[in-house]
Amino acid sequence: MFFVKKIGYLAIAYWSCQLYKNVFHRIYKVFFTPDRNIDLKKMGKWCMVAGCTQGIGRAYVEALAKRRMCVILVDAPSNNLYKFAKFIESTYNVETKIIELDISNEYIKYEIIEEEINDLEIGVLINNLNLVHDLHPEYFLDLNDNERIYNDIIRCNITVFTNICRILLPQMVERKRGVVVNVASTFAVIPSPLMTVFAASKAYVIKFSKDLAVEYEKSGVTIQCLCPASISTNISDTVPHGWITPNPRKYVESAIATIGKDNMTTGYFSHTILIGFLKLVHHLSSTTLIEWILTFMRRNRRRALHKYINNN
Ligand SMILES: NC(=O)c1ccc[n+]([C@@H]2O[C@H](COP(=O)([O-])OP(=O)(O)OC[C@H]3O[C@@H](n4cnc5c(N)ncnc54)[C@H](OP(=O)(O)O)[C@@H]3O)[C@@H](O)[C@H]2O)c1
Repeated sequence: MFFVKKIGYLAIAYWSCQLYKNVFHRIYKVFFTPDRNIDLKKMGKWCMVAGCTQGIGRAYVEALAKRRMCVILVDAPSNNLYKFAKFIESTYNVETKIIELDISNEYIKYEIIEEEINDLEIGVLINNLNLVHDLHPEYFLDLNDNERIYNDIIRCNITVFTNICRILLPQMVERKRGVVVNVASTFAVIPSPLMTVFAASKAYVIKFSKDLAVEYEKSGVTIQCLCPASISTNISDTVPHGWITPNPRKYVESAIATIGKDNMTTGYFSHTILIGFLKLVHHLSSTTLIEWILTFMRRNRRRALHKYINNN
């Protein structure tokens, strides 16, 4: 009996340490440590936001323009893009430059970016493109049009992310200052059955960003990877909801405050609590967590299928 009690105490001590490491320490470090914020304006005159007319990207554009940075807007060609540029110029009194880049095209001409940014001092890059809007949980083999969708996801989250960093990083390294924010997803750090390809491609974003951050640690360039949970944008198809689903503006203000404090973060207080909790459950019983997530994914899959049937 005494022995069992001792094991119980040891287990409690172990899980308390895990809770501290995964949740409390991270929250304190990112959200409550004294200001060590990077002054983004000092990184360079321009910032570039790839995937900028909607959602998180749009909120980054507005937040950076508000901080008096000129903005290079990278997005698919559309009238919306030009209207948005005019809106930013007139509202925030900053310059903008448009780079039309359609990442649904299999043969992307990266030279366009190289030519357009030739003489510009770019201090901040937000790598935030998203290509597949109507993605919902589905079994790997059952997703409609899966060849195109999987290729799009891999191109967007692996090829394009990598190449945009390849093009922008040299000038930051040369000037010894800059910030790169690569947007991944919570799906990359928890089990994500039925979102397999998307989650795996976002796991690439994390691995890529972490190793790149180490390579350029001493170069003066900060490389941050964001792993948000749910934000109310087109792809999440949700409205702002309680403490867990902020609107993009609220999310981005919080995420910007973490730049320089944590290179690997959800960017949002309640998302950090959520991931910490899920990781803890994973430590205690990975099968329980997988069952929970599978139930959640199957429910969302059923909803998406009903919506599809009702719309057709
Ligand atoms: N929202 C969430 O809950 C959530 C959670 C975790 C991670 N994330 C990640 O956050 C990033 C942004 O997500 P979001 O929710 O803000 O997405 P979003 O609202 O769909 O915005 C994505 C941006 O990419 C652009 N885009 C779409 N197709 C394009 C194309 N063919 N060529 C070039 N640009 C194109 C969109 O412009 P158009 O106006 O042309 O569509 C839009 O500006 C993504 O990497 C996503 O995986 C989001």
